[in-house]
Amino acid sequence: MRICVVGAGYVGITTATALADFGHEVLCVDREHSKIDSLTQGKVPIYEPGLEELINKNFQKDRLHFSSHVEESIRDYPIILIAVGTPSKEDGSSNLSFINQVVKIIASNIKDYKIIITKSTVPPGTNEWIHQTLVEMGIAEELFDIVSNPEFLREGTALWDIYHPNKLVFGTKTDRPIKVLKKLYKRGNAPFIFTSLTGAELIKYASNAFLATKISFANEMARICDVYEVNYTDIYKGLATDPRIGRHFLNAGLGFGGSCLPKDLSSLKHSALRQNVETKLLDAVMEINDTQIELYLSKLSMALPDLADKQITVWGVTYKPGTDDLRSSPAIALIKQLVQMGCRVHTYDPMVHLELSDVSSYIDQYESVTNSDALIIATEWDQFHKCNWSEVVSRMKGSIILDARNCIDGKTVRRHGLHYLGVGK
Ligand code: UGA
Repeated sequence: MRICVVGAGYVGITTATALADFGHEVLCVDREHSKIDSLTQGKVPIYEPGLEELINKNFQKDRLHFSSHVEESIRDYPIILIAVGTPSKEDGSSNLSFINQVVKIIASNIKDYKIIITKSTVPPGTNEWIHQTLVEMGIAEELFDIVSNPEFLREGTALWDIYHPNKLVFGTKTDRPIKVLKKLYKRGNAPFIFTSLTGAELIKYASNAFLATKISFANEMARICDVYEVNYTDIYKGLATDPRIGRHFLNAGLGFGGSCLPKDLSSLKHSALRQNVETKLLDAVMEINDTQIELYLSKLSMALPDLADKQITVWGVTYKPGTDDLRSSPAIALIKQLVQMGCRVHTYDPMVHLELSDVSSYIDQYESVTNSDALIIATEWDQFHKCNWSEVVSRMKGSIILDARNCIDGKTVRRHGLHYLGVGK
């Protein structure tokens, strides 16, 4: 099948590459010439394990191409997959201006039947609006089908997620595109869920909102564990062994970040409020998340009075391990807060050399702790729990280790004479 993917962002590049690898002929287009130029030379603007190799493989097989000629490409291809960004506006609602632009381009370039698939995360009602807009712009309904096909991939494991989906969700208005959609993603045994356009949009929001709810629940439980001097890890084990609850998304810590969970929660709340539906649970989920940094800073200042004069090292700056993405990273928010309080902040991250004013970034993990009064682990990169604590002890001035991701063994750290502060411990 011939597919034109519009938008060479995270979802666009990974989806285009995977679809090409499934054997389809895929063209990924974006107006940003510099991005397309580097992709054409095999340079990938995002870090995603295995992606560069897969792009090169599909280049060689002549199944994957990149272009900045958006209009011509949309005109030429029968399947258009929209994967442009839908960032947050100041009020928390989604900015749909890129979607708007693509819809206008599609409207002026439909000459024959097209299946238009929306992969971007869009608020409930958006795909109905796209359909209506095309009709109002004079496009006959026989000439197109709109499909709402949300994406559930995670950064860092995006390719694995595309190859092993736990479901494939399609919102349609008619049965006409269903045969093609089934062929498009003919891999694996994942169930197909067919629903309305708005139903598919809401499945995506419900999924991210539920994941965020689990994390805030874990964080609230960890707060309760703290005051009763109970180890949250024990609570986690008790929850995770119950198949009705499941073991995923129950790690307590600095809270959730990234380009999706916080943005989608705000957008869902906005969509609900617009229809006069209150979102008490989602509000609490966001409030807990928004106060996690405060909580860890107060843990630190209880153990280390006069925090403002101190040198603090933060390990991990990305919003989660396995990515170089800093968008809405709780670690960055924590670092900024420490700087604002007057601390001298040192950072180390295995993937990112942070460039932020008043922050010293190190390329050596151990050098970053030299003379520091405290070390905070803000992202649970694997190498942190395999750390050489003797080296840390010999370099640090102070002895406080704040494990804000519950990822290192407190007993090991204490054996080295360090003062361990953990999550719900
Ligand atoms: C999330 C969803 O997991 C994907 O299914 C979805 O497709 C994607 O958003 C999206 O909408 O595009 P992602 O943002 O890549 O994926 O990252 P997650 O692995 O979900 O982690 C999000 C945040 O939650 C991270 O900051 C992570 O540290 C935090 N988290 C995760 C916790 O604090 N505790 C946990 O137990 C799990």
